[in-house]
Amino acid sequence: MVNKLSTTHPLSATPFTGTIVLFATFDCPVLRISFITMNRTIKVTGDGSHTLFNNDLREPYHSINGAIAESMHVFIRHGLNACTKSKIRILEIGFGTGLNMLLTLIQSETRNIKIYYQSVDKYPLESFEYSSLNYPDILGEHYREIFLRAHECEWETKVTLSKNFTLYKERTDFRGIHPDGKYNIVYYDAFAPDKQPELWDLHIFRMIYDSMVTGGIWVSYTSKGTVQRNLKSAGFKVEKLPGPPGKREMLRALKIS
Ligand SMILES: C[S@@+](CC[C@H](N)C(=O)[O-])C[C@H]1O[C@@H](n2cnc3c(N)ncnc32)[C@H](O)[C@@H]1O
Repeated sequence: MVNKLSTTHPLSATPFTGTIVLFATFDCPVLRISFITMNRTIKVTGDGSHTLFNNDLREPYHSINGAIAESMHVFIRHGLNACTKSKIRILEIGFGTGLNMLLTLIQSETRNIKIYYQSVDKYPLESFEYSSLNYPDILGEHYREIFLRAHECEWETKVTLSKNFTLYKERTDFRGIHPDGKYNIVYYDAFAPDKQPELWDLHIFRMIYDSMVTGGIWVSYTSKGTVQRNLKSAGFKVEKLPGPPGKREMLRALKIS
């Protein structure tokens, strides 16, 4: 999400053949066929970790300057690490590659904190996509099994992935969810506000505000002015923090009352 359309950054692409699903109906004299393609490509970012590139939106899932570096900086350092509780409920939009989830699970083990992690995504990855991501190569081979289980486990079902970590994935449109809160932290990781403005509006931020505990932390990679204003209008206290590599600022918002 940082410098996302830079053409000068040395991104290397691993081409994939898009998945093609054929639906054929025979109730009509003319055969009707429709195609659904998952138009995404895996790319290597500045720190060597993978991200996905959504070719329709022309938008990467992470910063091209470093996917792991961005997730660690924005969501772990300025989100999870800012919460001092020993039992934490996290809401994420969206699950995507599962990178934020894996980094959070690792923290829950190393720091012995209990985490309930609820993540929403409308367009889950295909198995050939998540199984090609190099996060376990970088973060530890022993996390490969957990990472694959996180992607392959049932949606709308609580799954214990490790001693301290429970995952609940919801496969739905984020605008339609009714969070049963109360969340300590919200990882707001939708595509950029100029690509999906409907996911960054006042209505959504009010819904999120209501679902958080007092003292709750909302965190995201963007520092866009309209997002700041909508967060403030929803009741949050907004702060600008130094951004991840390649980006000057990011946003954190607190529910203070
Ligand atoms: C920036 S990526 C998420 C990155 C993810 N947190 C990760 O670590 O890979 C944005 C995600 O939002 C999902 N998404 C887009 N529109 C959505 C919607 N209306 N409702 C739910 N999920 C949506 C996409 O499928 C994508 O996985």
